[in-house]
Amino acid sequence: MAQIFEITVNGEPRQVEAEADLPLIYVLRNELGLTGTRYGCGLEQCGSCMVLIDGEPSYACARAMDSVAGRTVQTIEDLGTVADPHPLQQAFLDEQAGQCGYCLSGILISAKALLDRNPSPSRADIVAALDGHLCRCGAHSRIIRAVDRAAAMLRGEGGV
Ligand code: FES
Ligand code: FES
Repeated sequence: MAQIFEITVNGEPRQVEAEADLPLIYVLRNELGLTGTRYGCGLEQCGSCMVLIDGEPSYACARAMDSVAGRTVQTIEDLGTVADPHPLQQAFLDEQAGQCGYCLSGILISAKALLDRNPSPSRADIVAALDGHLCRCGAHSRIIRAVDRAAAMLRGEGGV
C-alpha cells in the first residue's frame, strides 16, 4: 500500500506517495522529474544511479523509500548548471572525460563525496572512491585525471 514519505531533495522538502519498497530512483526520475540519475543494472553493480543520502554515496536503485524517509538526498541536478558548472563538471569537460556520458552522473556524485571529505586525494584514493562504478566506454583514465584536476581547481590551483 502506498504511503506518504517526506524527504529533502536538493535542498527542497518534498512529499511523495510511494510503496515502501519502491527504489528511490523511480521516485527521483518518475515523480520528481530528476532524470539525471541514471538506471543501469538495478543491482548495485554499475554505479550509474549514485546519489548522496545524508552526504554519503548510495545506490538509488537499491534504496527503498522507507529507508530514505526523513533523509536528505542530493542528485546530479544540484551540482552545477551549464552556465555555472561545478569544478568537477568543468574538469570533466576540460579533460573530455567521457564518451556516451551514461556513467557520468553517478561518477560525479561519488567524486563530489570524495572531494568533500578529502581535498587532496591521491590517485589511489580516486580509484578507490570510484571503485563501485563501471564505464563501458573505457574512459577511466580521463575520469581519474578529471577528478584530480577538479581537486586542484577547488584548492585554488587552477587545474593540473
Ligand atoms: S543502476 Fe544502481 S548500481 Fe546499477
Ligand atoms: S562514458 Fe560511456 S559509460 Fe562511461
